[in-house]
Order: sequence, then structure tokens, then C-alpha cells
Amino acid sequence: MPERSESLADEPFDGRYPTSHERMTGLPWDASYHDGPAPWDIGRPQPAIVRLASEGGFVGAVLDAGCGTGENALHVASLGLPVLGVDVAETALAIARAKAGDRGIEAEFAAADALRLERLGRRFETVLDCGLFHTFDGDERSGYVTSLASVTEHGGTLYVLCFSDDGPDTGPHPVSREDLRAAFAPGDEWSVMAIEPDRIQTRFHDDGAPAWLATIRRI
Ligand SMILES: C[S@@+](CC[C@H](N)C(=O)[O-])C[C@H]1O[C@@H](n2cnc3c(N)ncnc32)[C@H](O)[C@@H]1O
Repeated sequence: MPERSESLADEPFDGRYPTSHERMTGLPWDASYHDGPAPWDIGRPQPAIVRLASEGGFVGAVLDAGCGTGENALHVASLGLPVLGVDVAETALAIARAKAGDRGIEAEFAAADALRLERLGRRFETVLDCGLFHTFDGDERSGYVTSLASVTEHGGTLYVLCFSDDGPDTGPHPVSREDLRAAFAPGDEWSVMAIEPDRIQTRFHDDGAPAWLATIRRI
């Protein structure tokens, strides 16, 4: 049997155009999950998300866009909320489903392109982006924001936890406050409620990397 190629030239990407990150690395996102845990895959939910959940930040149906192996989605689902995690990496989704089964947590994981969320035909009161927004380049961000608007209930809340450009030892793809404000610019779709400094834990930072936790209301 021929070896499975993971080069951009050979990989069909399930009919979708590769993201800027995939074009930059030359590999589909799925490859990040083939050789042990990826740098962001810390085997537990992000402390910022646990805190947010403990403060009642998640209500109603929840979407986790770019859920990876599902730790954040599973944490929210363990609180009794209906959660859908979507990702383009089938390997990550398989790991997430296995964890849900092992832990006896009910959560749904499905392959979907976060840049085309309208295809889900569903709406969510709370949407989480943990580590996805910062992987998109400027051109992709406007389409992503439109895609998010298509699945977020009016009055619902979007949380974006992303690497920030503020402080030493920043993670890859640092984002500025202005980048976030520009992506969710005042208009008739979004209202940025808060952009607070936080941390994203990784497998390579002792105390995490500087992050922003943005709370954005769907108008
Ligand atoms: C940095 S990882 C974060 C994963 C997870 N949220 C976490 O905190 O562990 C980014 C995730 O987004 C997924 N992803 C990238 N582009 C995507 C897209 N267009 N649609 C859906 N998922 C995407 C990747 O496969 C990867 O699992």
C-alpha cells in the first residue's frame, strides 16, 4: 500500500481550501495530532475556560470552534450543557470522542470548517474559540467573523482566548487588542464587551503564554 502523503499537493483537504496556517506549514491540521500531543494539547481544559465556566459564562447550547481533542468542550459539557465541538482534524475529533466515552460525558464532535459554520444550520447561545482565531491571517479573519455570526444567537456570547502581543515569551501568532477590535468592529453584528489579559497554557510554557480573553456579544 502506498504511504499516505500529507503534502498540500496531494491532500484533498476534504474539498476545502487549505487555511493560511496549513499553507504556511505545508501540512493539514490533522498532521498536528499524529505524533503525540500537539503543543497546545495540554490534556486538561485551559484554566481561563474553567474559570469562565465557574463564573457562569457558558449558557444554553455551546459551540467550541476548533475544539481539538475536546478538553474545553468536555469541561463545559460536564456541567450539563449541550456542546458541539467542531474541527477540521479528524484525528483530534476521534480522540475527543474517545475521551467523552471514557469519561461518560455526553458531547457531540463533528468535522466542520469554522470558516463555513453556516453549513451547520444551527445556532448557539455561547460560542468558544480557544486558540483558533489567532491561526487565521487578516484575510481569513473577516470571513471567520461572518461565519461565527451565522451560528451565534442574537444576544449570545462569543469568547475568544488567543495569544496576545503583550509581554515577554509570547506564543506564536500574537494578536493585539487592536486586531481583535478591528475584527469585531462596531457594526450591527458584534459588540466587544471586554478584552482582558489572561494566559494560555501550552506544553512549552511553564506558566502559559500571554493571552487575551475577549468577551464579544452578538447583537
Ligand atoms: C491551536 S489548536 C486549539 C485546539 C483546542 N481549541 C485547544 O484549546 O486545545 C487550533 C485548532 O483549530 C483547528 N482548526 C484550524 N483551522 C480550522 C478550521 N478552518 N475549521 C475548524 N477547525 C480548524 C485545528 O485543527 C486545531 O485543532
